[in-house]
Amino acid sequence: MNSLKIKFLGLCSVILIVAIGLTTWHNLKTQKAMLGKLASEHGRMLAETVHRSIITDMANGKNDGVVNILTKINSEPSIKDVRIFDETGRILMSGNDQKLGELVTTAELMAYRTGNFNFTSSDNDGADYFNSVVPIYNQPICYSCHDQNLQVLGILNLQVSLDAISDMRTAGRNATMIASGVMLVILILTITAFLLVYVDVPIRKLVTAMDHVEQGKFENAHASVGSSDEMTLLSSKFNYMVQRLREMMESTIKNERLLAINQEKLAHSEELHAMNLTLEDRLKEIEYLNINLEERIEEIEEANYKIADLASELEEKNVGLTQAVDRLQALYKMGLAVNATIDLEKLLNLLSQKSVETLHAQVGYILMKNQKTGDLTVGGAEGLPEDFDRSLDIPLKPGGVSYWVMNHNKPRLVANVNKTREFSKMSRLGFIRESVICAPLLDKGAVIGTITVANPIDGSEFGPSDLELLTTIAAQASIAIRNARLYEEQESTYLNTVQALVSAIEANDAYTRGHSERVTKLSVALAKKLGIDGDALKQLEQAAILHDIGKIGIDVNLLHKKEKLTPADIDVLKLHPSIGVRILEPIHFLGTVREIIEQHHERFDGNGYPNGLSGDEWRIEGKILAVCDTFDAMTSDRPYRKALSDEVAIQEIQDHSGTQFDPRVAAAFVEMSNEGQLPE
Ligand SMILES: [Fe+2]
Repeated sequence: MNSLKIKFLGLCSVILIVAIGLTTWHNLKTQKAMLGKLASEHGRMLAETVHRSIITDMANGKNDGVVNILTKINSEPSIKDVRIFDETGRILMSGNDQKLGELVTTAELMAYRTGNFNFTSSDNDGADYFNSVVPIYNQPICYSCHDQNLQVLGILNLQVSLDAISDMRTAGRNATMIASGVMLVILILTITAFLLVYVDVPIRKLVTAMDHVEQGKFENAHASVGSSDEMTLLSSKFNYMVQRLREMMESTIKNERLLAINQEKLAHSEELHAMNLTLEDRLKEIEYLNINLEERIEEIEEANYKIADLASELEEKNVGLTQAVDRLQALYKMGLAVNATIDLEKLLNLLSQKSVETLHAQVGYILMKNQKTGDLTVGGAEGLPEDFDRSLDIPLKPGGVSYWVMNHNKPRLVANVNKTREFSKMSRLGFIRESVICAPLLDKGAVIGTITVANPIDGSEFGPSDLELLTTIAAQASIAIRNARLYEEQESTYLNTVQALVSAIEANDAYTRGHSERVTKLSVALAKKLGIDGDALKQLEQAAILHDIGKIGIDVNLLHKKEKLTPADIDVLKLHPSIGVRILEPIHFLGTVREIIEQHHERFDGNGYPNGLSGDEWRIEGKILAVCDTFDAMTSDRPYRKALSDEVAIQEIQDHSGTQFDPRVAAAFVEMSNEGQLPE
């Protein structure tokens, strides 16, 4: 209800209602006055006409005609009454006979007396009517009938009903009221439309633009209004104001930022100033502390020098101690390794390798003296040139360090070979000597060889402690070499004894004489063809020599039986691999040899004896021995048959490949035979 539009509309409506109301009232009043004047004029004219008719009839002596006129007039619907009364108010003549002699109303009489001949009055029923009072004056033509002294013969009173005029006035008023109402509505609607188009819409656009300004969205705050010159000017001014406001806002923000930056700089500057003051105080304190610190530093430096001297001494001792511990550990580990090796060749190589590791040398080797020729041979070596032939004998002659050591029977340190002319720089083992240490290897006091290391890895020179360490290693090596040699001798003695036993047994039987020897040759040849060498070849060789040693435990009569063997006899003969294993059981180094012997009657298909091995369970050495043993048995005479030819025996082996014999081994044997490589 507080809307300007509603207020303006309300004000316009009130003004219009008042204006139109006043106009309508004035129109109605004018209409009423016109109608009254019209009725008065009409009544007056009618009264004058009646007056003239009455005078005419009275002049002609026709008093009855006057009555007829009055009666006719009175019969008109719009005529209420028509009569003639005297100056006292008594009715002399009337259209209505019943009213003769009655008195007119005081108002009608007073109207005549006051000269107000035309007036409006109302009867008791409220109906309005117009009165015309016309005096009928005495004239000379009337003296015949009337006294000439009389001035007025009677007063004509005509009463005209105003009902018709009232109806006209009511219709005119209604028409005026309706026209005024329609005009009022049209005016209000026109004003409302005008307000909406030319005032409300532009104001709303401006308000929307103001909202954008309020929200800071200046780019959207543009009002485009062209409904009228005033609104266009207003929107133009508004847009200009927004543009100015935007510029001012941006300028304000920029200034505020600058202000904030300056405030921050100011605060920072103040803080820096405060910090500077604090720093100056701290600097003074630090200067004072520095003076004290310099004094303390001098004291500490002195103490440091003393500590450094002590530390240097301690470090030297520590280094010596660490080296001693390292060497002891190396010696201990080497002792463990050396004592676990009984093979002489392996032992000498191991000693060379461990000496090089322990003394951090590039080259290490052991030279053994050939007691028969007096020459030296390379027993073991580490770091020698690859093209050097280790199998060559090295003559023992002056110029070599080993020569000196063996002659003097004591170790020798040559810290720098370049600084002495006693020894040649070029070793006969094919390398250049820079720094060398050498110690003798002894057996019961006699020199049997030397152990030598040369050229430290880091390019330094060997020292007395290194000589001492190599001497200790040489002593350990001497004992180990002696033990290995004793072991080799013991092993050789035992094997020779057993081999002699086998040969003795075979010698008693013409059919098996030389069997083990031939099988051994065949087995070694076949093994080499299959790429077996080293320890495995050696173990196969020993196993081949001893493979039938179990027959010692079989009854000689059964071994030499010429009749056909019974199944019981065969069962007994099948025991010979297991008996052989038991005979060799006390000799621990023959562990693998025993295993090969036990397997020389196994079959590839698992139907052999004593354990029914097959496939990969069966050792390759056992497979080789099985082929060679069978071949020699087939190509030898037996009490119950003659020897088969080599070709037949080879065919047999080929036929039983994959069942009795391993296919790969059988194929290699056949190939060896085809190539004519079977040993005689
Ligand atoms: Fe056998």
